[in-house]
Amino acid sequence: GEEQRLQAISQAIRVVPHFPKQGIMFQDITTLLLDHKAFKDAVDIFVDRYRDMDISVVAGVEARGFIFGSSIALGIGAKFVPLCKPGKLPGEVISEKYVLEYGSDCLEMHVGAVQASERVIIIDDLVATGGTLSAATRLLERAGAEVVECGCVIGVSDPKVGCNKVNGKPLYILLEPR
Ligand code: PRP
Repeated sequence: GEEQRLQAISQAIRVVPHFPKQGIMFQDITTLLLDHKAFKDAVDIFVDRYRDMDISVVAGVEARGFIFGSSIALGIGAKFVPLCKPGKLPGEVISEKYVLEYGSDCLEMHVGAVQASERVIIIDDLVATGGTLSAATRLLERAGAEVVECGCVIGVSDPKVGCNKVNGKPLYILLEPR
């Protein structure tokens, strides 16, 4: 059943203590990708959730959000739009800065990739503080899109991600970390 599927997906994600630095329990989704049944089950849960929500755009956050986001886009019949780290996209971009624990980062999107009033979901592998997805939401909204929901495979509990919302938008989390 559903519970067993979720457990298999969770078991397929390797937890690596102290990577990339001391104290971090890194959630390694590359081992989920090695298990094609668990990977497909994970993608299918998102596809079932979003297929009848009139979504025309799936935006994925570099880098691991590309893997899940593009698979979900194919499954629901939507276009995929990459949200990239600075300097990766060759065309004209709009960018949105965000603050991290140490320093800041930025996401960029090609101008013209999304039309005003298109219904978008934003996908990433993991949410912690929600800073990345919050910046992604602002970026899509500045382009005039309607952000319907943010979806993540893993949600690391953080007090700032209260009430399953990010920047006022619904946040869907498939799994808690092991
Ligand atoms: C991770 C993860 C999310 C982000 C979540 O990416 O893939 O994009 O952190 O954290 P937040 O909710 O606190 O913003 P990372 O910063 O490791 O970059 P990478 O994908 O380039 O490895």
